[in-house]
Amino acid sequence: MARELTEIGVVGLGTMGAGIVEVLSRAGLSVTAVEITDEALQRGRGHVETSTGRAVARGRLDPAERDAVLDRIRFTTRMADLATAALVVEAVPERRELKAAVLTALDETCPPDTILATNTSSLSVTELAVGTGRPGRVIGMHFFNPAPVMKLVEVVRTVVTEPSVVADVAALADRLGKVGVTIGDKAGFIANALLFGYLNHAVSMVETRYAGREDVDAAMRLGCGLPMGPLALLDLIGIDTAHEVLETMYRESRDRLHAPSPLIRQMVTAGMLGRKSGRGFYTYAGPHSGEVVPDDRTPAGGAAVSGSRPVRRVGVVGAGPTAAGLAGSAGEAGYEVTVVTDGGGAAALEELAACDLVVAAGPGPLDTEQALVTALGGVLAPGAVLATTSRGPVIELATASGRAADVVGLHVPHPAAPLVEVVSTVATAPEVAATAHAFCAALGRHPVSCTDRAGFIVDALLFPYLNDAVRMLQARYATADDIDAAMTLGCGYPRGPFQVLDDVGLDVALAVQRDLYAESREPGLAPAPLLEHLVTAGHVGRTAGRGFRDHPAR
Ligand code: 3HC
Repeated sequence: MARELTEIGVVGLGTMGAGIVEVLSRAGLSVTAVEITDEALQRGRGHVETSTGRAVARGRLDPAERDAVLDRIRFTTRMADLATAALVVEAVPERRELKAAVLTALDETCPPDTILATNTSSLSVTELAVGTGRPGRVIGMHFFNPAPVMKLVEVVRTVVTEPSVVADVAALADRLGKVGVTIGDKAGFIANALLFGYLNHAVSMVETRYAGREDVDAAMRLGCGLPMGPLALLDLIGIDTAHEVLETMYRESRDRLHAPSPLIRQMVTAGMLGRKSGRGFYTYAGPHSGEVVPDDRTPAGGAAVSGSRPVRRVGVVGAGPTAAGLAGSAGEAGYEVTVVTDGGGAAALEELAACDLVVAAGPGPLDTEQALVTALGGVLAPGAVLATTSRGPVIELATASGRAADVVGLHVPHPAAPLVEVVSTVATAPEVAATAHAFCAALGRHPVSCTDRAGFIVDALLFPYLNDAVRMLQARYATADDIDAAMTLGCGYPRGPFQVLDDVGLDVALAVQRDLYAESREPGLAPAPLLEHLVTAGHVGRTAGRGFRDHPAR
C-alpha cells in the first residue's frame, strides 16, 4: 500500500544536502538534518538560512513562511535522531566507501521499513543497496544543483528495489514539485552520463590551450543558449565531485572520453574545488560565493583587437540567413556594405575589389567554397581580410585563396546566435584574427577565438553530446522524452537533445559527427548507428516531417 512519507532525514549538509533539506521543508515535510561535526552542521544550517533568506529578499518566500521552513528542520549531529524517519536521503561526498559506511550506519539505526535513498551522482545504487540488510528498500534519489531550483529528480531503481518503494519515492518527488524520471542503475544515470563527457572535453580544450576558459564558456552560453558554460558549471558542481563521477563512468564505460582530464585531478590535489573552496576554473569572492573576481588568468580587455587592420568597406557573399544577418548588422554598425548574392559570377565579385574585409558566407560543399575563395583571392586588394563562415577545414580554403595569411574563419554556429567563432589557421596573420575580432565586436556579436579543428568549439562540444543521447536511446535505457526532460529540467538546457536534433537536422548532425570522428579517430565519437539508420531512411528531422518524433509536414 502507498505510504505517505512525511518525516524525512538527510545525512550530509554540503551543497546538495543543504539544498535537499530546504526543498523537503519547503514542501511542508519535517526534516532531520544530520552532519558529523558541529562545525559542518553550522555550515549546513548557514546554507539553508542564506538560500531561504535570498528567496525572501526576491519576494519568492514570505518571511513567516521562511520561519516555518526553518522550524520544520531539526539540525543534529546524532544519527540516532533518525530513528523515526520514514525515508532518509544520504548526501555525503561522492566516495563509495563513505556512502557505503553511512548506509550501513543508517541500516543499523532506522526501523526496517525506513527507505534509504542515496543521492549518488554515479555510483552503483545496486552495490550500495546490497551492502545493507534491506536492499529492496534502498533507492537512488538524484537531485540536481542547485536543488531548490532544478526540477529534475532521477529515481533510480535497482533490480531488487521493491516496486512500492519506487512508487512512494516517485510520489514524494511529485509532492516536492519536482519531475521524477524513473530509470535503471547505470553509471551517471541519464543527465550525468550525457553531461560529463561534454564537461571533460571542455576541460581538455582549456588544458591543451585550444581555447580559453572564457571563450569556451561564452561559446556554449551564446552559441547554444545554455544557462552556464561548462567550466563555470564544473565550479558549481565541485571539481572533486566531477572527478569522482568521471572516474566511475570511465570504470564502467572504458571510454577514454570519460577518463578525467589530468587538469581535473591536478585541481583536486591543489584544493581548487570550485565555488565551495573559492577557486576552481574561476576565482570567487570567497568560499561558496558565486561572484567571480578577476585573477591572473583573466584576459586583459582589448588585447585581441590590438594591431587590427582598419576596415571601412565590407563585402558579403552569400544569400542565406548567415550572410543576410552579417550584412544587416554590418550596415547598422556603419560599414559601407556590398552584398553579392551569386557567388559564382566573376563580374559580381569584381565589385568587392575595394573592400577591406570580405565574408564568404556560403554555405555550400567544400569544393564550391573553395572555388569562391579562389576567385576572391584573385580579386581582393592586397591587405584585405578574407573571412569564411565555412565549417572548415579553414586551412583548405586559405590555401586555395592563394593568400593564406589574410584568411580567417568566422563561424556562426546558428544565424540567430550572438556568437562568432574566430578561427585562426596555422597560416593566419595575428592582425587578421584581430581585425576579425574587432569587426565582430563592432557588429554586436561576441567573438571567441579558436584554431582550425573539426567542430571548432561549439560543434565539437555539442554534437558528441547529441550522439551520446542517441546511443542512450538506442540502448533503450530511457525514452527520448525522458532524456529531453532530464537535460531541460536537470541542467536548465533550453531544449533536450532530441528536440535539438530534429531542429538542426539528423543529416547535419551525422555529417558533423563523421568529421569529428574522422579527425580524432576516437572510438567514442563514432556516429551512433541509430543516427546513421534514421538518416538513411530519410528521417532527418523537422524539415522532413519525421526525425526522432513525427512533425506535421511543413
Ligand atoms: N540556491 C537556491 N536558489 C538559487 C540558487 C541556489 N544556489 N542559485 C540560484 N537560485 C535561484 C535564484 O534565487 C533565482 O530565483 P528567482 O527566479 O526566484 O529569483 C533563480 O534561481 C535564478 O537565479 P539567478 O538569477 O541568480 O541566476 P541565473 O538565472 O543565472 O540562474 C542557475 C542560476 C539556476 C544556477 C542557472 O545558471 C542554471 O540553471 N544553471 C545550470 C545548473 C545545472 O546544470 N545544474 C546541474 C548540474 S549537474 C548536477 O547537479 C548533478 C550532480 O550529480 C553533479
